[in-house]
Amino acid sequence: MTSKTTTDTGRPARCPAYRVETERAVLRCWRPADAGILLHALTRSIDHLREWMPWAKDEPTDLEEKIALLRRWRAEFDQDSDYTYGIFSANEEEVWGGTGLHKRLAGNALEIGYWIRADLINRGLATEIAAALTKVAFTVNKVDRVEIHCDPANVRSAAIPRKLGFTQEALLRRRAAGPDGSPTDMMIWTLFLDQLGNSPVAGARVKAFDVLGSEIPTS
Ligand SMILES: CC(C)(COP(=O)(O)OP(=O)(O)OC[C@H]1O[C@@H](n2cnc3c(N)ncnc32)[C@H](O)[C@@H]1OP(=O)(O)O)[C@@H](O)C(=O)NCCC(=O)NCCS
Repeated sequence: MTSKTTTDTGRPARCPAYRVETERAVLRCWRPADAGILLHALTRSIDHLREWMPWAKDEPTDLEEKIALLRRWRAEFDQDSDYTYGIFSANEEEVWGGTGLHKRLAGNALEIGYWIRADLINRGLATEIAAALTKVAFTVNKVDRVEIHCDPANVRSAAIPRKLGFTQEALLRRRAAGPDGSPTDMMIWTLFLDQLGNSPVAGARVKAFDVLGSEIPTS
């Protein structure tokens, strides 16, 4: 797939990465058939997710709702309106978490979000995945800026952009919704394209593949 469009800053963007391979994990566009293994991963992570993710208060939902959600994410991905990825084991039999390159920022920029299954935290997985997706955002999606937003109290999450060479640009007070819906503070961490070469992200081992399964260069 070589179809190209032009971004608002003139850098040519191409087909998004439908599949990304990191050192240990596979990130790929969700399929409705993943509903069962997603539900399993969410069910065993519920307390850990409810601590930080407002959407987790309604989890776990039933299989029908998961199928509907994955159909929506798949449609958004195909229409280039948002790129939500599942995080899978290398054999793709288990869901290890969720992540995404989200198109909710102004300018030619993407925001990365992430959650990791509760029994797999503190092994560097979120750092590995955020590094890989940051590299993909710059080299495949051709953005000029990647952001990670998190609650300053979420020390595990804030450690990730810090380790990857992002700069903390702002601490917005009471501008985000906390897990119970009440206002909470939000850190904004940013990496610009011209900082990529000197950041730990540059060394991330990643392979990206388009919708036909052809490898897309990430250097
Ligand atoms: C945040 C989250 C994604 C991190 O995933 P992970 O795979 O455990 O992350 P990593 O192992 O790559 O890195 C976590 C870092 O936090 C550090 N950390 C862990 N517990 C900590 C603590 N209590 N205090 C300070 N640092 C801590 C780890 O040591 C690690 O840093 P290091 O590699 O320098 O040692 C995971 O905890 C999660 O899914 N949380 C719930 C959802 C969530 O909060 N998502 C982010 C929303 S912004």
